[in-house]
Amino acid sequence: MLGQLPPIMDPNVLVGSSNADDAGVYRINGDTAAVLTVDFFTPIVDDPYMFGAIAAANSLSDVYAMGGRPVVSLNVAMFPEDPDFFPVLKQIIQGGIDKMAEAGVPIIGGHTIKDKEPKFGFMVMGLIHPDNILDNAKARPGDAIVLTKPIGTGIISTGIKAGRVGEDAIAEFTRSMAALNRRAGEIMVQVGVSTATDVTGFGLLGHLNEVLSASRVKANIFASRVPFFTDAEKLTAQNVVPGGTIANLKNYGPFVKWAGNVSEVHKILLNDAQTSGGLLIFVPRENLERLSRLIEEEGILAAHIGDVTEGALIAEGRISVEA
Ligand code: CO
Ligand code: CO
Repeated sequence: MLGQLPPIMDPNVLVGSSNADDAGVYRINGDTAAVLTVDFFTPIVDDPYMFGAIAAANSLSDVYAMGGRPVVSLNVAMFPEDPDFFPVLKQIIQGGIDKMAEAGVPIIGGHTIKDKEPKFGFMVMGLIHPDNILDNAKARPGDAIVLTKPIGTGIISTGIKAGRVGEDAIAEFTRSMAALNRRAGEIMVQVGVSTATDVTGFGLLGHLNEVLSASRVKANIFASRVPFFTDAEKLTAQNVVPGGTIANLKNYGPFVKWAGNVSEVHKILLNDAQTSGGLLIFVPRENLERLSRLIEEEGILAAHIGDVTEGALIAEGRISVEA
């Protein structure tokens, strides 16, 4: 759809759609720009309250990924007209309200329409200094690549639908998706990083590819350093894999050079479509230790999964993956 948009002529549009960035950025004046994003989706967990919380955390994530500070949000909801559904909707909305409150972001309005399948999310506006935008074109050779949440939400949610995931694993995956990327985002801005994105529907390698492509660099990734949810590897080996993940594997295949020792399970998981995934941070090597320490002190993961290397204009195989 983005390819169909006309070119943007307004010089105040600092980030548009050309580099597949997390959010658009519009300059208001010399010191201030608005960061704008919208995200909504169908239920990813059975618990309506947690679904609302996850939708809010996911919507806020793109602002954090740009280095911005979210300030206000608007709710977007679609739901069946069935009166039996209203108590469920009430819980979904409460989850969203509580998560936005945790982030310190007021909900200042919204829009609802009737729809057979419920959908819920938010438009979020953040603020940022125009000089500090962490857009996709800013990764540099030598940057370390750090991931802040485990991978595998697509596999786990497919496993849940098949009745093959235990209570503990469901709780772990739900907690992770509902966790704000706020503190990791604040810390990366404080420490100083080259750029960042968040891992969502295109999977770890898809979102990594967006940054590498815009920045004209390559990367080496070590599959063994990537954190996965409990049971994600087991379920993948049992072929419990969603369609979006298989599509990612196919779509991003040309950009990836797999070492012979990378397992099929890891190839699939590195392409697993994520919901409300972690930040993928590109940090200059000299700031890596401080970034990781401060993030880990918050009880958040900071997995150094690989490094950016010198670029090439050839897209094929720009991501090298070793076991
Ligand atoms: Co994003
Ligand atoms: Co988004």
